[in-house]
Amino acid sequence: MRVALFPGDGIGPEVIAEAVRVLEVVCGDAIEYDIGLVGGTAYKQTGHPLPPETLEVARAADAILFGAVGDPDCDNLERALRPEQAILGLRKHLELFANLRPATLFKELADASTLRPEVAAQIDLMIIRESNGDVYFGEKGMRKTATGRREGYDIMSYNEDEVARIARVGFETARARRGKLCSVDKANVLETSQLWRDVVIEISAEFPDIELSHMYVDNAAMQLVRNPGQFDTIVTGNMFGDILSDQASMCAGSIGMLPSATLNASKQGLYEPIHGSAPDIAGTGKANPLATILSAAMMLRYSLGMAAEADRIERAVAKALENGARTADLGGKLSTSQMGDAVLAAL
Ligand code: IPM
Ligand code: MG
Repeated sequence: MRVALFPGDGIGPEVIAEAVRVLEVVCGDAIEYDIGLVGGTAYKQTGHPLPPETLEVARAADAILFGAVGDPDCDNLERALRPEQAILGLRKHLELFANLRPATLFKELADASTLRPEVAAQIDLMIIRESNGDVYFGEKGMRKTATGRREGYDIMSYNEDEVARIARVGFETARARRGKLCSVDKANVLETSQLWRDVVIEISAEFPDIELSHMYVDNAAMQLVRNPGQFDTIVTGNMFGDILSDQASMCAGSIGMLPSATLNASKQGLYEPIHGSAPDIAGTGKANPLATILSAAMMLRYSLGMAAEADRIERAVAKALENGARTADLGGKLSTSQMGDAVLAAL
């Protein structure tokens, strides 16, 4: 198997290093690694956040393990050159349209959630976020109004095929879980969302065994902190999914815990922690590597056909937590590499 490693910016390289240590123990030489530059790091060395060589490495790989991108030094660059374009470009070029973001609370972390432990303990949900369309990829720009005032704009749209393919991923995911799918939109205000809802309902005819519900995004945000246990699988658009998945992560204890997978139709996938590059703690050894280690487990399961190895990694993470291993975000004192050591010891 070929895995592309794109560590990226900020804490990205630190957390990727721990995931690779774990993969080497679990998979040995079943995996070969190709390293590529992305983000601000790539921009500084090559002039582009997603250089052509990196894209080539990505295309040739069975899966991509991605750290994080984002660098305050690059905030004033034109948008096409900013670090974020690396992840957006990979999603788009490889047609990685289905972003799977599980939020489950390890029982050992019930106290780390900002929710009351008995509420947090209920969280076991999967957000299926569309990641190839929506306002992220619509026409955008800066212009002047008739009276010469500056105006920014970003066009939001979804066509029915884009909605249908992510809706099917939502229904299939729900089928493999507890059979409940909640589609989140803003159909009371947005035409994009009205089409979304209409198409999700049409596709539901193919999945009569799945219990489908609809929720407006504002209500969903509220329900996620009120009673997260009501959700099984959520399917939503790119922007709503971006926001709700950060929210769900904090309910589950820490944003440092949650992995993600972004798949295309041939199940090639990009795997990344849902947290960002955290420039404020980069280089301090404070980053929690577990989201990335758990992303590596998802990679084994979804793209590399190594489910047993994925289980081993997930059990080792649970065991390390059970043994009291905690990084700063979880209220502990372990450094990034000490947390890696704790997982290796559990393995
Ligand atoms: C995420 C991130 C990205 C997104 C950024 C870095 C472009 O927030 O993966 O959730 O908005 O999709
Ligand atoms: Mg995000």
